[in-house]
Amino acid sequence: MKPAVLVTKRIYPEAIEYLKAHAEVDYVNSDDGLPADELLARISGKQAVVSQLTDKFTPTVLDQLDGVRVIANVAVGFDNIDVAAATRHKILVTNTPDVLTDTTADFAFALLMAAARRVVEGHHFVHSGQWTKWRIDLLVGQDVHHRTLGIFGMGRIGQAVARRGRGFEMRILYHDAMRAPEAVERETGAELVSAERLLSESDFVSLHVPLLPETRHMIGAEQLRRMKPTAILVNTSRGPVVDEAALATALAEHVIAGAGIDVFENEPRVHPGLLKLDNVVLAPHIASASVDTRRKMSMMAVENAVAALEGRRPANLLNAELWAGDGRV
Ligand code: DGY
Repeated sequence: MKPAVLVTKRIYPEAIEYLKAHAEVDYVNSDDGLPADELLARISGKQAVVSQLTDKFTPTVLDQLDGVRVIANVAVGFDNIDVAAATRHKILVTNTPDVLTDTTADFAFALLMAAARRVVEGHHFVHSGQWTKWRIDLLVGQDVHHRTLGIFGMGRIGQAVARRGRGFEMRILYHDAMRAPEAVERETGAELVSAERLLSESDFVSLHVPLLPETRHMIGAEQLRRMKPTAILVNTSRGPVVDEAALATALAEHVIAGAGIDVFENEPRVHPGLLKLDNVVLAPHIASASVDTRRKMSMMAVENAVAALEGRRPANLLNAELWAGDGRV
């Protein structure tokens, strides 16, 4: 008998086809997401779940899963899953790294450029018929080239952003609990500095940390005050890394010059203060949203799920301690 898999939300069709060749698939072909009680009911009898970042696998939810062998998240971030609790229940958890690194870094840079050079304001200006004459200081913004780019979190995506910054001949500072490989520092010219130095010396601050208890509200009123009044904050990591209310106040009071924000504390809700401002570019959590990358993420997740169901080690296993050499422990 084929194993049973729940796919909690719409993914790319080729991933569903692949799954169907290996499993009985219960496909929630919708973008709505299941409320917690329905999620639990639909998981009942399944051995695998292909989940998305809106599905919350809290310890309470995980306590109630019976017979699930793997949760394959279609995202590199996995703060929606309590991996420690999953590990206690011997449930494998996988994510989709690498395939989205460059796409996400491209978008971080797109937000940085758009906020610095006021692209969205320019679009609205033209679109609304306000453009009547050329003016010496019309929509003047901040230069990007040769400025200082500060990166919090020098993992895969942070490094890819550093490479892009290098292309713009920027000076790169970074802050991370772990030093980046020497080769990366050499290639990008990135210098490891304290959080305080990064905030006070950078013209652009880009966030690439995972959401953890210690990174929640890592950027709040105090950190924003340390930044230059001309500085721009970019967030493509997770919303709660930034205190959104503090950011709205800082932007309204011109404590910093601007921001480019793709992720929010209570998605899809956005702090009303941010919606009123011109000096912030807002996007609906689309940093990894290129056609190719979203297809690859879908495929990677289902391949992880099938590998686990077939007793093979999934390529992107997060709780590696559940795998001892030749098989599951
Ligand atoms: C991720 O992968 O974690 C993104 O936030 C969604 O693509």
